[in-house]
Amino acid sequence: MRVLFIGDVFGTPGLRVAHRFLRDHRGDYDLVVANGENTAGGFGITRKHAEQLWGWGVDVITLGNHTFDQDEVVDLLESSSRIVRPANYPAGTPGLGHTTVAAANGERLTVGQVMGRVFLEPLDDPFPAADAIVEACPADAALIVDVHAEATSEKKVLGYHLQGRASAVLGTHTHVQTADEGIFSGTAYLTDVGMTGVQHSAIGMQFDEVHARFLTKRRHRFRPASGPATLNGVVLDLDGRRARGVQRLQWRDEGEGADG
Ligand SMILES: [Fe+2]
Repeated sequence: MRVLFIGDVFGTPGLRVAHRFLRDHRGDYDLVVANGENTAGGFGITRKHAEQLWGWGVDVITLGNHTFDQDEVVDLLESSSRIVRPANYPAGTPGLGHTTVAAANGERLTVGQVMGRVFLEPLDDPFPAADAIVEACPADAALIVDVHAEATSEKKVLGYHLQGRASAVLGTHTHVQTADEGIFSGTAYLTDVGMTGVQHSAIGMQFDEVHARFLTKRRHRFRPASGPATLNGVVLDLDGRRARGVQRLQWRDEGEGADG
């Protein structure tokens, strides 16, 4: 089974480049997963954005620390099994921490997510939450765990924790694609898939306001960057719970022009 995982889709430029890519290339993959927690200008996801991603061929959307930025997400999480939020939110939080979908050929994929706690909200421990995702994954299904975390060390160690038990452990959240992909005891690993959006930016936001906040220490209203966008992703070749291939992807629409 060939699966594309699309890194954090950021704002309108990210949605635009994801749409263009999927329009021409969706057929190259059995299933597509996308992190969509930054589609609403960096702050969460709306129903409209989720329906756009699903309509373009995304099978499962993952989220992260911005899950609850938009009020309407609660209804979205309660009404669809094709969107997941970190599994280590407290018990009773709306939504699913993992879900299982089937490709056209019948092969199944479970997608789960945990969020790191280093430099992020103090959620429940992601390690037992990741174990619970493994336990819940049907025996015949491949398993991708999205580790949404700030600290490289926490991502690497969660990757090690799941080694041999998940098909892939993929990091999200830090928005810059890393180059450390590999397969360890059958588990594909990448510290960060990167961002689908404007790369020459303050990880998705316009430089000016972020720059001003660093310089003045005062609050400045962040606005999403505009301009040419690049899709960042990773392509996985999975044979049940074992990964056979892992390849990073960076794709720019020819019509988008040069970066910043
Ligand atoms: Fe995030």
